[in-house]
Amino acid sequence: MLAGKKILLVIAGGIAAFKSLDLIRRLREQGAEVTSVLTAAAEEFVTPLTVSVLTGNKVYRELFDLTDEREMGHIELSRAADLLVVAPATANLIGKMAGGLADDLASTLLMATDKPVLIAPAMNVRMWLHPATQRNVAQLRADGVHFSGPAEGEMACGEYGPGRMSEAHEIAEAVSEALADGPLKGKHIVITSGPTHEPIDPVRYIANRSSGAQGTALARSLMGLGASVTFVTGPATVPPPQGAKVVQVETAAQMHEAVFKALPADAAIFAAAVADWRVVAASGSKIKKDGTGKIAPLNFTENPDILAEVSSAPQRPGLVIGFAAETDDLLKHAEAKLARKGCDWIIANDVSPETGIMGGSENAVTILTAAGADALPRMSKDQVAQQLAARIAEALT
Ligand code: CTP
Repeated sequence: MLAGKKILLVIAGGIAAFKSLDLIRRLREQGAEVTSVLTAAAEEFVTPLTVSVLTGNKVYRELFDLTDEREMGHIELSRAADLLVVAPATANLIGKMAGGLADDLASTLLMATDKPVLIAPAMNVRMWLHPATQRNVAQLRADGVHFSGPAEGEMACGEYGPGRMSEAHEIAEAVSEALADGPLKGKHIVITSGPTHEPIDPVRYIANRSSGAQGTALARSLMGLGASVTFVTGPATVPPPQGAKVVQVETAAQMHEAVFKALPADAAIFAAAVADWRVVAASGSKIKKDGTGKIAPLNFTENPDILAEVSSAPQRPGLVIGFAAETDDLLKHAEAKLARKGCDWIIANDVSPETGIMGGSENAVTILTAAGADALPRMSKDQVAQQLAARIAEALT
């Protein structure tokens, strides 16, 4: 979350400038205050009025605009922000930054700032690969500038290759990472969340009622303490957390692969309601009624136990946490799971229908560790997330 953070967004002249409008929306949704500076060339691609409406702030345009200079000079403008973001960062502006040139408002405040800078390069593939650009990029990396992208793909000019600006959500993630602060700064945490869908045929699947709410809330709380989060999620009903690296999967097998790919991590938290079984050979075409009034029995096989495998893997994170959603004998089953899975903590909750917990907004959890059980009172899933995040921070620091 970026609540209260001030971001100065420099928009340089490139066709990718249209993506910066979406970036403004995403940053503001997370609570950031955005002020924008447009280079003269940027105004060929987006209008100052649009940017001003979207940021809800004045747009700064010319270095020698005396009114602006009196109101807020370039030094002050560059220092009032917590982070400077340049998106799109053109080859020209990257060159100026690397060379220390200051001949317009954007380049001047990038020289004058004492705050971290994040750039999202956007240019033609040849320009990106040009030795001059690569030299400048190496210089900026050495200067501690953060980068988002560029990505590889088709370009507005019709060519293909690296140079495409990152998508708005990727830049928003990089902003969160660059600004992350708190006891978990520098820690990488992998979280699984949501249900998995196990296909029967191309149109049918086996699922469960998990909404992904608790895993999402936990990701947000951990990022709020400075963690960088890889969020591996099945098809959940709540939207994934902004600012996390989100990996969307459908089946348990895909979740298994994504989790191992995301390692190493300082902690791994398994909040997903993973389907225990999958259909052995899902049909490639839709299963039709055959007139007998019966369906041929489905054969099932067990899915990999991701939590148990990570707990015993050579790349095991220092802290591994599982969840136990039970309808009977909560503590007995949860204790058995703690031992069987080889994890450090089990977060146990009663998901009997009368509790309204599965798919609801509240939760009542008991934290089981080798030291014993600690039952928290019933509270919102956001509050549970905050309590758990605080304990995780304590354990990791
Ligand atoms: N889990 C997992 N991979 C699986 C099954 C479960 O990573 N294939 C994780 C869940 O994310 C959760 C924990 O293991 O953190 C316990 O999941 P749960 O479904 O409650 O336990 P199971 O091992 O499936 O046991 P059972 O179905 O018998 O209750």
